[in-house]
Amino acid sequence: MSWLQAHLTTDKERAALIELLFENLGALSVTLGDAADEPLLEPKPGESHLWRQTRVTGLFSGETDPDHLRSAINQALNEEISHCLELEILEDQAWERAWLDAFHPMQFGRRLWVCPNGQPPGADNAVVVELDPGLAFGTGTHPTTALCLRWLDGQDLNGKTVIDFGCGSGILAVAALLLGAKRAIAIDHDPQALEATLANAEKNRVADRLMIHDSNQAPAVHCDILLANILAGTLIELEPLLSELAVPGCLIALSGILKNQAEDVRNSYSHHFAMQPPELMEEWVLLTGKRKP
Ligand SMILES: C[S@@+](CC[C@H](N)C(=O)[O-])C[C@H]1O[C@@H](n2cnc3c(N)ncnc32)[C@H](O)[C@@H]1O
Repeated sequence: MSWLQAHLTTDKERAALIELLFENLGALSVTLGDAADEPLLEPKPGESHLWRQTRVTGLFSGETDPDHLRSAINQALNEEISHCLELEILEDQAWERAWLDAFHPMQFGRRLWVCPNGQPPGADNAVVVELDPGLAFGTGTHPTTALCLRWLDGQDLNGKTVIDFGCGSGILAVAALLLGAKRAIAIDHDPQALEATLANAEKNRVADRLMIHDSNQAPAVHCDILLANILAGTLIELEPLLSELAVPGCLIALSGILKNQAEDVRNSYSHHFAMQPPELMEEWVLLTGKRKP
């Protein structure tokens, strides 16, 4: 079995029109993607921004006549848009295998592994987070998550209370609990993240030591370790709140920060935390520090 894909690149104002056209022409699915390497970082819950140049892809049944589809698209759209139409045959494949080929067990620091789909870690005595990619951010493949996981692996978490602020999939909270933390509090403003965190905590059998809260209704909790992998601007806005949650001596790890933003974030946290020099992975930074008395 094969499929027919139609791709059109357009500006974001016309993307909805093309999406509707593909649907009306019988597309089984329509995907909107970035056509010009323009990252849109963390839209708020419910927001879905489009890229200035958006690539609209319609997936049609393999029985669709390509000539007929091309002529229907040409008739519906003016030449300025339709001239860049690309049609492509997509051969069927074992999609589950294709996904697994791209997502392997990953090691962070000395002991910690993230393993998808029940795959074994590559070492004995590993601490394993079982996690499959889902709707919320946080699989370990992104440098910001990787930096936080590697840092967590190096901490003594025994008996500690950990806050994972901006928990996404809950990967950091779950890892902290598996590494020995007494309890963890996972906080996010996105309901999908809270749902994913609960599912991942249950899968890893740590849900009884995890509290999950919407950031708008989070109780006043305090912690010994605080992780926040969000974005630089949000971290700066959240500094008064995060420094309230941290008890004196609390260790903080901040990521989601680009190299050229590290100085601003470090400055805004330096008043309440003794900050360490940044750690780098690709263009992303981890900032760590200790809450002052
Ligand atoms: C980059 S993801 C990090 C997920 C996970 N902690 C990790 O390290 O992979 C950032 C998360 O922070 C959440 N977030 C962003 N701004 C927030 C805010 N102001 N309050 C609470 N959560 C926020 C997002 O919904 C998202 O789930």
